[in-house]
Amino acid sequence: MTALVLNETINKVGLIRINRPEAMNALNADVMAGISAAIDAFEADENIGCIVITGSDKVFAAGADIGAMKDYDYMHAYKTDYITRGWERIKTARKPVIAAVAGYALGGGCEVAMMCDMIFAADNAKFGQPEIRLGTMPGLGGSQRLPRAVSKAKAMDMCLTARMMDAAEAEKAGLVARVYPVDQLLDETLKAAATIASFSLPVVMMVKESVNRAWESSLNESLLFERRLFHSTFALEDQKEGMAAFVEKRKAVFKNR
Ligand code: HXC
Repeated sequence: MTALVLNETINKVGLIRINRPEAMNALNADVMAGISAAIDAFEADENIGCIVITGSDKVFAAGADIGAMKDYDYMHAYKTDYITRGWERIKTARKPVIAAVAGYALGGGCEVAMMCDMIFAADNAKFGQPEIRLGTMPGLGGSQRLPRAVSKAKAMDMCLTARMMDAAEAEKAGLVARVYPVDQLLDETLKAAATIASFSLPVVMMVKESVNRAWESSLNESLLFERRLFHSTFALEDQKEGMAAFVEKRKAVFKNR
């Protein structure tokens, strides 16, 4: 049987590929366990500085597996805490995670992409939260992360009408960081990931943590958090090296400490 999730290490970047083409990469416990295991491994690997999650050229993921969900009753969903254990590993990753989205990212697929630190999209990408058509609603963060990313108005529109947003609109609205032609998406995403992975890993992790604070705390709290993290970078050998290299007009060699 082909693996539902394929992993690869490309220099200092960990690449995770969702691979369930016969079901439009629909997400189930096995797919999510594969993603979680890959993140565990890449987080533990000191050589890895950035993680990329992608699908195929046609689909990132068309949502949670509707065939499996259709027979769940309330007690099953509640008792098993459906889509909780094993489904949110991306959220706790400390290394940056980039979603490279080509084709459909719908329902849980859009939510998984939004769980990542940023989204790079192909020009054929289509984002949507169409759960309402199935008599249900976003459950993996769609109704919470989407308004924060694209405004309440556009999130309401997408969640209530089930319409899809294309890559151009998604970039304009702030959902995606960059858009590339589909045949360049993965290369360009891997290039950006390699750039991130070339920097000091502790600093990369601090930057990620600090930007995330902007979403989660009041401005005064997050400003203080940033200030203290900034101060702590002065304890790093990499800060000494980075600034010395600039003054000496040479390339910095970071040691991740
Ligand atoms: C299970 C799925 C699936 C899904 C597609 N397939 N999406 N199977 N779960 N989410 C299967 C189809 O049944 C079909 O199987 C095969 O993949 C190809 O799909 P088609 O529909 O024939 O392809 P196409 O006409 O190109 O349309 C593509 C599509 C459409 C627009 C992406 O498949 C679609 O609308 N899918 C559902 C999108 C959706 O509603 N997502 C939200 C799910 S709820 P066969 O065997 O017939 O070839 C959700 C809950 C979120 O995500 C909270 C939890 C995470």
